Order: sequence, then structure tokens, then C-alpha cells
Amino acid sequence: MNAVPEARRDAHPGGPVLVAEQLAKHYDVRRSMFSSGTVKALNGVSFALERGKTLAVVGESGCGKSTLARQLTMIEPPTSGRLLVDGEDVAGADRAKVAALRRRVQMVFQNPFASLNPRKTVEQTLGEPLAINTPASATERADRIAQMMRTVGLRPEHAKRYPHMFSGGQRQRVAIARAMILDPQIVVADEPVSALDVSIQAQILNLFMDLQEQFKTSYVFISHNLSVVEHIADDVMVMYFGGVAELGDKQRIFSHPRHPYTRALMSATPSIFEADRSIKIKLQGEMPSPLNPPSGCTFHQRCPYVIDRCRSEEPKLREVDGRQVSCHRAEEVGEADA
Ligand SMILES: Nc1ncnc2c1ncn2[C@@H]1O[C@H](COP(=O)(O)OP(=O)(O)OP(=O)(O)O)[C@@H](O)[C@H]1O
Ligand code: SF4
Ligand SMILES: [Mg+2]
Repeated sequence: MNAVPEARRDAHPGGPVLVAEQLAKHYDVRRSMFSSGTVKALNGVSFALERGKTLAVVGESGCGKSTLARQLTMIEPPTSGRLLVDGEDVAGADRAKVAALRRRVQMVFQNPFASLNPRKTVEQTLGEPLAINTPASATERADRIAQMMRTVGLRPEHAKRYPHMFSGGQRQRVAIARAMILDPQIVVADEPVSALDVSIQAQILNLFMDLQEQFKTSYVFISHNLSVVEHIADDVMVMYFGGVAELGDKQRIFSHPRHPYTRALMSATPSIFEADRSIKIKLQGEMPSPLNPPSGCTFHQRCPYVIDRCRSEEPKLREVDGRQVSCHRAEEVGEADA
């Protein structure tokens, strides 16, 4: 592959490629003419993404998944916490360094209809990042574009087409090609298949997996669909109300979830959660208002395991049975099917 930019430099080949430490994002919002409040969209999220692996992020609408994606891709600065890309602290980096780090973390959005510029051909969409970030000549760029189009399952002779001339699945392939064209170390994909026809979803998931095998790209893969997560993830992070409920190896979490919220999410996907039916949990009620957060455990109003302690004391994320979990009763929650 010629004309591949410097983006792909494994400065710290042994360590995780992406580390979040207590990452938080708070938004000041106006509640009415006379009062304002703070939405803690992300409230202290920590994880490490290993090279060439996929961390799936799951959780209900409004739990902070897209906010997390915007912090990881450096679209927005966090309110507090640290982000390390390939061992480099983003907060301590100067402008040029941040620009270089941004190139190493690319994003794929849910809706390729909205995320692609309707007035640009595929050639322009893929060519611009190459023109800006690499010394590649026009011929080298054209070669690279044709090669990338083939890699994502598009026909190079369609390079002069506009987004509206493609199907939804093909458009998402263009968006994936755009994310991959600078050979990033990390791709953050925010619900990348949920806007597509079910029949197309598996093809796009397989494309993600093929690309990972070929380029060793690491993924943060956001999805509310546990069947999708089951297909693609190595590790899983379950988020609730801006925080981490449970984090660890997919197999371990899927076979023996130890947070009641994880258990509730999984109970809704019977094909995955094969443990004893008697310990299934039906998720009741709604997530609380972010402008009026509950005391103690943020899940306590909906949790069938709630005890007095949960209403006053916030559970810290801790290691139980080989995964991280934030629940006072994690040991008991998982025992029933252990
Ligand atoms: N720019 C913003 N200003 C104020 N509040 C925001 C902003 N962006 C997000 N929020 C709030 O932060 C919380 C998390 O939102 P976010 O979009 O990250 O959730 P999500 O998990 O991606 O949800 P979905 O599954 O619906 O995409 C929500 O309560 C949302 O209303
Ligand atoms: S800490 Fe309490 S309320 Fe929160 S999930 Fe655990 S048992 Fe439920
Ligand atoms: Mg979202």
C-alpha cells in the first residue's frame, strides 16, 4: 500500500491503544426562563481498549453512549478525566499533536444519509483526507481510493457517484471507507448498522470484522442490539445513566451477568441469555431525568435487588468474578446462575 500516511504509528506496541480514565462530560442546560441545571451526560467512565480488539458499548437511549463517542474522537473536550491515545495524553498535547491524534481515531456514524456530504462524490469524500494529510500525488490518491473501495466491497468504477446513487448499505460502506482511508488505529462506530435493513446488517458487521483482521484496527462499537454485540465484541461495557454498570470479557458477562441492569438488558434478548429463566429481570420504568439524578445507586428506583444502602451509597466500580461491576450486591446477583 503506497501513500499510507504516518497515522499508523504504534508508539507503545504493548499497551492498550485507547485508555479512558474517569472521563466526564457535563452540559449546562437551561431548564426554564429562570433556572438552569447541569446534565452529567458522562460521569466518570474508565476503560482500556486493547489493540486489534472490539469493545462494545451498550445501554439504553440517553445513557451517554454518543457523548462518550464524541469524547473519544476528540470532537468535544471532556469536562474532566483523561484520554490516552496510544499512550499519549490528549489533554497535555499541543495543537499539532492533537490533530495527529485525531487522525488516528476515526468515527462511523449511525446514519450514512446524514453523515456523507450529498454534494461530494465518493472520490472527493475519500480523496480529501488523503490530500490534506498525505503527500500522495493525484495518481497515488486515485489508486488508493480504488483500492479502498474494493476493500469495502464497492466498485471502483463508481468513484464518481454521489451518495444518493447508492443504497443504504453501500452508503455505509462509503462512510466506512472514509473512516479507514487514513489507516486509523481506532474506529469509533456509533450504532453503525441500526439504520440499515436487517438483511444488510450482517454484511456490514462482517465487513467491520474483515477490516479488523486485515488492518488490526481497534474498535469501540456502540450498539443497543445485544445480538450485534454478541457477534462483534471481545469486551463489553454496559452503561447506565452516564456511568459504567459492568465491564469485561463478553463471554463472562453474557454467561453470568453480575449487575442487575446487565441482567435486565439480557433478559430482553432470550436467544443470548440462556441462564435459568427464573432469574430473568424485566426492566421497569424509565431512566431518571438527568436534571434530577437519584441519590446512591443511579439504578435503585428500577432495581429488584435494591436494599436501603443502595438509596444512600453510590456503588463504586470494583472487580468481582473477573469483571468490573458497580453494584453493592454483585456477588449475590451473579450467584443464582454461577
Ligand atoms: N449537547 C448537549 N447538551 C445537553 N445535554 C446533552 C447534550 N448531548 C447529550 N445530552 C444529554 O446527555 C445524555 C446522554 O446523551 P447521549 O446522546 O450521549 O445518549 P445515547 O446513549 O447516545 O442515547 P441514544 O441511544 O438515544 O443515541 C442525555 O440525557 C442527553 O439528553
Ligand atoms: S447497588 Fe443496589 S440498586 Fe444498584 S444495582 Fe446493585 S442492588 Fe441494584
Ligand atoms: Mg447516541
